[in-house]
Amino acid sequence: MSKLDDLFPKTFVNVNGNITNAVDAKISIFDRGFLYGDSIYEVTLTEDRSIIFWEEHLDRLENSAHLIGLPLSLTREQITEEVKKTLVKANLERAYIRLVVTRGEGIISLDPNTSTQNNFVIITRPFPPNPSEWYQEGVKLCFVSVLRNDKRSVDPNAKSGNYLNNVLAINEAKQKGFFDALMVNKDGYVTEGTTFNIWLVKDGVVKTPSLESGLLKGITRTKLLKIIRENNIPFEECSLTPDDFHQADEVFMTASTKGIVPVNRVDEYHYNVENFKRVKELTTYYQGMVESLKNDQKYRY
Ligand SMILES: Cc1ncc(COP(=O)(O)O)c(C=O)c1O
Repeated sequence: MSKLDDLFPKTFVNVNGNITNAVDAKISIFDRGFLYGDSIYEVTLTEDRSIIFWEEHLDRLENSAHLIGLPLSLTREQITEEVKKTLVKANLERAYIRLVVTRGEGIISLDPNTSTQNNFVIITRPFPPNPSEWYQEGVKLCFVSVLRNDKRSVDPNAKSGNYLNNVLAINEAKQKGFFDALMVNKDGYVTEGTTFNIWLVKDGVVKTPSLESGLLKGITRTKLLKIIRENNIPFEECSLTPDDFHQADEVFMTASTKGIVPVNRVDEYHYNVENFKRVKELTTYYQGMVESLKNDQKYRY
């Protein structure tokens, strides 16, 4: 067994329709995703052999493609077919799916017009449950010096493969002994975490940074806002400062691979996760929503 097989057991990779195990999956070193991070991606899960929120992930993929001017050479139906084929091959009840679309290969030049054809890579692997301590005890986050990209740079709302900024951010947080990082924008307003959206609760009102702050419109974020509206829970999408988080009653994060995770500390400010009433309420609603999707035949494999 090679090192990669050890690292990625039961992982199958589909590169432009060719499905192999992790170790045999290959892509050109002239691929622009490799050379420049010139790519977009999506990550989601399956539960009981059903792809969760797949339509929404395809919508976002198309939006990311639009935001960076990357023409997609496969239709939504073709992409879905390839993802399902890979999942069938992997034969997993609960899988992690990563779909990467690069601008393709070309001569070494920044000019995007020199690329030929997209490369489509689909990675599927088992997705064991996240550690239960995350949900019971919470995780600790800190604000870091790295700024979230400005909307006029790589728009944070494009889920691009260019994550170096976020890599630097999590590295800074890890060096300080934290679980992960929160970033502000150039005006000092809170945006989001490295791979998650961030929320607070103050006096019963749920608050999250608005899209104007410059952040990725998370699918989990959108679903939670729907739940909040439908249940008449007071909420605001607004500009928030780090101090709003420091003074909050509850803090939590959201992402497709994590769901809703309570935060027990931001910088030097601690919160008592056991008293997180809103987080518990929202988690119940969210789990119910995910549960109801398991019967969606369209995304079963
Ligand atoms: C920067 C960033 N923000 C937020 C999220 C959460 O988005 P979603 O809920 O769609 O997983 C992610 C997910 O990877 C992310 O990378």
